[in-house]
Amino acid sequence: ENVPLEMHKVRIVQKLTLPPIERRLAAIQEAGNNTFLLKNRDIYLDMLTDSGVNAMSDKQLGAMMEADDSYAGSETFSKLQDKIRDIFGMEYFLPVHQGRAAENIVSKVFVRPGTVVPMNYHFTTSKAHIVLNGGTVEEILIDEGLAVTSTHPFKGNIDLDKLQALINTHGADTIAYVRLETGTNLIGGQPHSLQNLREVSTLCRAHGILVVFDASLLADNLYFIKTREAACKDMSLREITREISGLVDVIYFSARKLGCARGGGIITNSEDAYLKMRELVTLYEGFLTYGGMSIREIEALTVGLEETMDEDMVSQGPQFIGYMVEELSRKGVPVITPAGGLGCHLDAMRFLDHLPQTEYPAGALASALYLVSGVRGMERGSVSEQRDAEGNETYSNMELLRLAVPRRVFTLSQLKYAVDRISWLYENRALVGGLRFIEEPKILRFFFGKLAPT
Ligand code: F0G
Repeated sequence: ENVPLEMHKVRIVQKLTLPPIERRLAAIQEAGNNTFLLKNRDIYLDMLTDSGVNAMSDKQLGAMMEADDSYAGSETFSKLQDKIRDIFGMEYFLPVHQGRAAENIVSKVFVRPGTVVPMNYHFTTSKAHIVLNGGTVEEILIDEGLAVTSTHPFKGNIDLDKLQALINTHGADTIAYVRLETGTNLIGGQPHSLQNLREVSTLCRAHGILVVFDASLLADNLYFIKTREAACKDMSLREITREISGLVDVIYFSARKLGCARGGGIITNSEDAYLKMRELVTLYEGFLTYGGMSIREIEALTVGLEETMDEDMVSQGPQFIGYMVEELSRKGVPVITPAGGLGCHLDAMRFLDHLPQTEYPAGALASALYLVSGVRGMERGSVSEQRDAEGNETYSNMELLRLAVPRRVFTLSQLKYAVDRISWLYENRALVGGLRFIEEPKILRFFFGKLAPT
């Protein structure tokens, strides 16, 4: 049996409870069938996200005790800045309170009304900020990226022909920047190859187009470049990271994911870009030496970034997710393949093939799985989309239930429990009905919206 090994030991624990099914039924009803609205006390395994809930190491916790707190000029910030320069080889670093704050700043500086932002695939908050600033998102993922089951090792790759066609249609001047999201979240945490980024970068540079790299899920993508891209198998994670940063103009990240801390940042070598973004950091985030982050989190992030250069660390997520994907596939449960990073993704379109997309199969599956197991996943389908300007639904390409595997948090037996309950639900899938909105916010409706059985 292909069993992944934990390359760490557990030294601090948090008690969990598994509430009885009667309580779970009441809880999911109170939450309007939206797992975002469940309370932690009603949850056994929280697989909602890998954001801000990764386990910290002893070294991270130790560093947090040394934090040098000051509004301006803190030593703690200088340490982070040095670490960023060391790892990414870029000069300028701006701290922000989380990933979407970086997206706000990058979009405000580079997106003008009428501009286009091509990207491998959108993320909810990234797209919302671009649209808010009058831009349009164009997805130029390779076709294979949307195939739920596949053997393509890099489903997050950009299709160069699609990018060239957009440049021909709109002209390079209308393109605000090209965004590459590493560990592409909404298609199942799927990686891009280093070679693909080289090609994207060459094409963009030939046309004077900026490349913006969303590095939030870099840890997983580094692992996949190292293990799936033959030409990179002898490169260290540090070398791969350095090459990536040499190919892009702006890097931003959510430190809730990258570095197992909280906060985020924007990195660039361009003084001009830095100066434009810097003003907005002081306006929206805080002074330049904390940017809305707590000083303790900055200490933890500095150590966390260094740990991300360790193969034993970055392999944990993908290997445990790989185990879940393999076990579920063996039992015939429809999951995204190949296994990506971030989490295991169930294909709700096939899991609940008796439900039309108008009844939000991924939302229904999220609600049902919580009910039968106490496992909380996240809907990543049409509920997570936004209506268009005329108020029509924009149905998602994929209807997924994401079961995130926060780094170094769950044990193998907990994942086995999840696999067992998911398989049971699959065998009894005819029991699951569809959902409709009863409360529907206009922006990012998946966070607060409430749904009821159809
Ligand atoms: N970019 C990517 C690729 C992300 O996955 C996220 C967050 C963000 C940007 C925004 O960062 O949350 O710190 O503001 N993803 C979380 C998730 C929310 O659950 O997938 P943030």
